[in-house]
Amino acid sequence: MTVQSRCATTPGAQTLPGSALSLGGADRQAPTVNPFSLVDLQARKVEYLRVSVTDRCNYRCTYCMPAEGAQLVPRPELLDFDEIAALVRVFVSLGVRKVRLTGGEPLVRRDIVRLVERLAAIPGIDDLSMTTNGHLLAELAAPLRAAGLQRLNISIDTLDAAKFARVTRQGSLDAVLRGLDAAQAAGFAHTKLNAVALRGLNDDELTDLCAFAADRQVILRFIEYMPIGVDQFWSPDTYLPVAEIRARIAADWDIAPVERSDLPGGGPARHWIGCSRSAPGRTVQLGFIAAVSEKFCRMCNRVRLSSTGTLRECLSAAGTLSLRDMLRAGADEPALRAAIGDALHGKVDAHRFDGAVRTWEPMSAIGG
Ligand code: 5AD
Ligand code: SF4
Repeated sequence: MTVQSRCATTPGAQTLPGSALSLGGADRQAPTVNPFSLVDLQARKVEYLRVSVTDRCNYRCTYCMPAEGAQLVPRPELLDFDEIAALVRVFVSLGVRKVRLTGGEPLVRRDIVRLVERLAAIPGIDDLSMTTNGHLLAELAAPLRAAGLQRLNISIDTLDAAKFARVTRQGSLDAVLRGLDAAQAAGFAHTKLNAVALRGLNDDELTDLCAFAADRQVILRFIEYMPIGVDQFWSPDTYLPVAEIRARIAADWDIAPVERSDLPGGGPARHWIGCSRSAPGRTVQLGFIAAVSEKFCRMCNRVRLSSTGTLRECLSAAGTLSLRDMLRAGADEPALRAAIGDALHGKVDAHRFDGAVRTWEPMSAIGG
C-alpha cells in the first residue's frame, strides 16, 4: 500500500489567492523583458532573486549571529527603497519572476510595508515572498498582505519555549506563534515553517514539529545546518544530515517523496508527505533542504542581492559586483544588465560547504 493511499487525505493542489498587486508611481511601467539573459555557464536559468533588506536582526540565533558585537553595516551603506526597487526592476527585465525579501530580519527594516507595496507594483513578478523570524508578524501580517506580499516562510526551530529562547538568544516563541496566527488570519497561503535541524537542540522533537505543522496546515521544511557564519558552533556534534532527520521522523510517520509542481517558488527543498501512524488521516507536508549532504546546486535558479547592493551569485561565495556603487555612480539599466550578466559567468558550479572551506560572513548578512 502506498503512503498516499494510507492517508485519509493528501494535500491537494492549492491555488494562490488572486494577487493584490497595486500599481503606482515610477514602478508602474512594464520593464522590457529578455528572459534568456540570465543563464550561467552551467546553463542554469536564474529566475529567483533573494533581496536582503537589512543585516540587522532582533534575534541572535546561535547558528547565525554572534551573541554580542555583531558587526553591522553603517546605515548609509544600505540600499534605500528607490535603489532596491530600481535593481529589482533590472532583474525582472532579465527574466527574474520570483522575489523573496530576507534579512537579517526583514521586518525590522523601517517602513518595510511601504517597500513591499513598491515591489508588488512592479509588473513581471509572479511571486513575492518573505522569510521572517515572525517576531513582529502579529502586527505586520495583515498590512503586509494588503500591500501585496503573497507568501511567508517563518523560522521555528523548536516548540519548547526554553529551548527557543536558548537558540535565538533573545527570541520569544509566544510572539512567533502569535505571528503565525496572524499570518494565517491575514490569508497567506502556502505558509512554510523553516526549522534548522540541530543535534542536541531539536533532534528529539522532530516528530512533534511534524504534528504541529500537520495541525496548523503549514508546510514544514527541515534545513540542514550549514557551516556559515562567525560562530564556532558547526560540528558533527550539532550537524544533523537529512537522512537522519528522515529516520527520526519515520519513527512516528510513514513518509514518502512526492512531486509538488503545484507549489509556487520552486527551490531546493525535496518534498515529502508524512502520514501519522498514531492518528490515521493526519498528514504533514514536508520539505528537506539537504544543503550539505545532498547538494542541489545543479538545480540552482537563484542569486542574492545583499543589503548593501552586492550581487552574490552563490550562497557560499562572497560577491564582488557592487550594484549599489554602479547605481550611485549613475549607471543606466543596460550597464547594470551587462554587469549582472558578466558576473553570472563567475557563478560557481557548486557550493563548497562539504570541503574544508567555510563562509565566515554571518547568515544574517546573506539572507539565507
Ligand atoms: N544553516 C542553515 N540554516 C540557517 N539559517 C540561518 N543560518 C543558518 C545556517 N547556518 C536559516 C534561518 C532561516 C533561513 C533564512 O536560514 O533559520 O530559516
Ligand atoms: Fe535573525 Fe534569522 Fe539569523 Fe536568527 S537566523 S539571528 S532570526 S537572521
